Amino acid sequence: MTRLSSDLSPLIRVPSSSSSSEFKSDLQTKTNGGKNIVASSSPGLRSSGSIRKIMNTTSTTSQQQKQSAHQQSSIINNDNDDPFAKKYDNCIVGAGLSGSVIAEQYATNLGQTSLIIEKRHHIGGNCYDYVDADTNILVNLFGAHLFHTKHERVWEYVQKFAEWVPYEHKVLGKVNGKIVPIPVNIDTVNALFDLDIQTTEEMNVWLKKEQVEFKDDDGNTRAPLNSEEVALTRVGQRLYDLIFKPYTFKQWAKYPAELGPEVLSRIPVRNDRDGRYFSDPHQALPKGGYTSIFERMLDDPKITVVTNTDYFEVKDRLKCDRVYYTGPIDSYFADLGWPKLEYRSLSFERVVQEDTPGYFQQAAVVNHPQNVDAENGKEVDYTRIVEYKRMLNQTSDSTIYFIERSKDGGEPYYPVPNKENKDLYKRYQEMAEKEEGVTFVGRLANYKYFNMDDAILNALELFNEDTKDMAKRRG
Ligand code: FDA
Repeated sequence: MTRLSSDLSPLIRVPSSSSSSEFKSDLQTKTNGGKNIVASSSPGLRSSGSIRKIMNTTSTTSQQQKQSAHQQSSIINNDNDDPFAKKYDNCIVGAGLSGSVIAEQYATNLGQTSLIIEKRHHIGGNCYDYVDADTNILVNLFGAHLFHTKHERVWEYVQKFAEWVPYEHKVLGKVNGKIVPIPVNIDTVNALFDLDIQTTEEMNVWLKKEQVEFKDDDGNTRAPLNSEEVALTRVGQRLYDLIFKPYTFKQWAKYPAELGPEVLSRIPVRNDRDGRYFSDPHQALPKGGYTSIFERMLDDPKITVVTNTDYFEVKDRLKCDRVYYTGPIDSYFADLGWPKLEYRSLSFERVVQEDTPGYFQQAAVVNHPQNVDAENGKEVDYTRIVEYKRMLNQTSDSTIYFIERSKDGGEPYYPVPNKENKDLYKRYQEMAEKEEGVTFVGRLANYKYFNMDDAILNALELFNEDTKDMAKRRG
């Protein structure tokens, strides 16, 4: 395991406290101090495991190299000093799930070569994780990643690259000073409204009374037109006001009425006591983390990976038969001078709490939908807190958690699905369709939120589609 020394990490150290309210006020002071730490400066680094060869290509002094060892440009699986000198069957922009699956499929099924260009210092895209050097806890750099799927093809595919540990994700929310299950279920409603609902039938009756129906001009029930209407049809006004409206505003800086119906339609509401966040048949975490999945996927001499390199800076030097582009579609067409597509991003404030063999909070993820903590009247400007120690049953004398805040600018995470963005994306999509020899793939190129399993399925199907003729020729 390679690690950087901990003094490289900007972090907030919090003394452990036996009293949670004492700690909460401490946290509040620290977070209000404005020390927002974006996790890209996090100190941990995973071992490069099965990767055959990593070469640094930037020229830095040995001291600089030591200080930013995990930010060096690397060539992976390449025997040639100049990866751009060679011709490849495929050039792939982005070493996230979409790009890595495409490269793996071409190598495994057709014996074709791929050059992957990645602008970040690491492979894995947003799924990248690493072992935090101060706590020895495996954490995600870009927010919690929980794998869940109903697609047998995807589940079968991911078995090749990891041992999977069953993990049913549970999320709690702090609402009106109470810790309640999210998504809303019988226990949430009982706790928040002082009820004693016991059965699914009783919950259905309660929900029915709360739910709002929308009618068209002819008096017929119509589908919700925006996310406010979605929430009202599913949970009614009271839960909407307590949870969905403030949380959505924190997350998107827009009220649900300003967002397309798809944003809140992903949030399930339960009529039983099921406290799981997802209901897919396969829910698991990779035992060795996500980064090691990518290391295995890309561990093929036919795949070359160059990190710390922006595609647009090396584009003219590339020699390949076809290109798969998994970056933002508007960056690809930047020369057109059209408006940029809007994204929401996140900041992750890293907090290490020493002398804590147990945990900081009651679940791996606790959501904070409200703007004020009803317990102490203090402002809550964050959306959720993630404590990774609770995933994969990790043990450590300390704990680490990340306080998430939503923001504009920064890494593009969530497309903002309003009418302007959808219309603008359509214009970019029309340009993409005309682009010869380039396939646009993945969440950024499609301006669409993909779960990991969607990204994998999409890439597998696209590979099949693109190679139908080649597979036939091979017989
Ligand atoms: P991804 O963004 O991972 O990869 C694209 C790559 O292209 C990036 O590495 C980028 O640096 C690179 N790139 C872009 N432009 C480039 C350029 N010009 N030159 C070179 N490289 C370039 N899913 C799930 O199933 N469960 C979960 O719990 C979560 N949680 C979650 C949390 C957060 C905060 C986010 C933002 C997302 C999730 N996801 C998730 C979704 C998951 O991250 C997503 O499905 C995959 O990352 C999609 O993989 P892609 O390869 O399409 O994009």
